[in-house]
Amino acid sequence: MKLFIDTANIAHIKECQSLGILDGVTTNPSLMAKEGIKGSKNILNHYVEICRLVDGDISAEVIATDYEGMIREGGELASLHRNIVVKVPMLKEGIRAIKTLSGKGIKTNCTLVFSASQALLAAKAGATYVSPFLGRLDDVSTDGLELIAQIRKIFNNYKFATKILSASLRHPMHVVKCAEIGSDVATAPYAVLMALFNHPLTDTGIERFLSDFKKSQG
Ligand code: G3P
Repeated sequence: MKLFIDTANIAHIKECQSLGILDGVTTNPSLMAKEGIKGSKNILNHYVEICRLVDGDISAEVIATDYEGMIREGGELASLHRNIVVKVPMLKEGIRAIKTLSGKGIKTNCTLVFSASQALLAAKAGATYVSPFLGRLDDVSTDGLELIAQIRKIFNNYKFATKILSASLRHPMHVVKCAEIGSDVATAPYAVLMALFNHPLTDTGIERFLSDFKKSQG
C-alpha cells in the first residue's frame, strides 16, 4: 500500500520524504488555506514546490464546480508538472470532467466520495484515483472502513484500474485496516503518519538495551 501525506505543509512533507516513507501528497483547498497560501499564482507555485520535493503523485484540487471551469483548471494544474493529479469533486459535472480529462491522458482523483455508487461512477469515468473519506463517515456514525471494503470488492469484481485512495484517516488503526482491506493508497495527516512509528515497548526496550550496554562497560 502506498502512503501519501495529506498536507500542504512543506516542513512536514520534507520530513516524511527524508524518512523514505512517502509515495505522494494530497492537498485540498482547506489544507492550502491552513498554510496561509493565498492567490492563484502562489497556490500554483506551491504545487510546483511540492512536486520538486516528492517524486510521486501530487493531488491538486480544482475550485470550479462547472464542467468548463473544471476542464480549464484541470488542464492548467496538469501542465504544472507531470506528477500532478487533478482532484475533481464528486458531482455530475465532475464525473463528466473526469471522463474528458482522462481521455486527454490527465490523471484524476475523484474526491469527496462517500458511497460505493459514487466510487463506481468515478471508476467508469476512468478516474486514476477515487478518494473515499472514511473519517468523515465515522463522524456521522457510518462505518468508513466498510465502504473501503465494499469499493475494493466492486473494483476487483470488474478489474477496474482506478485506485482506492483512502482519505480522511484519523488514527494509525485506520491506516492498518486500510492495508488489511487492500486499499491501494492511504493518505494521512503528518500526526497520523508519525504515530505509525510509535510503540511503548519499543521505547522501553531501547532504554533497557542501552542501560544494560552501559553496565557491561563497567
Ligand atoms: O484527504 C481528505 C482529507 O483532507 C479530509 O480529512 O480530516 O478533514 O476529514 P478530514
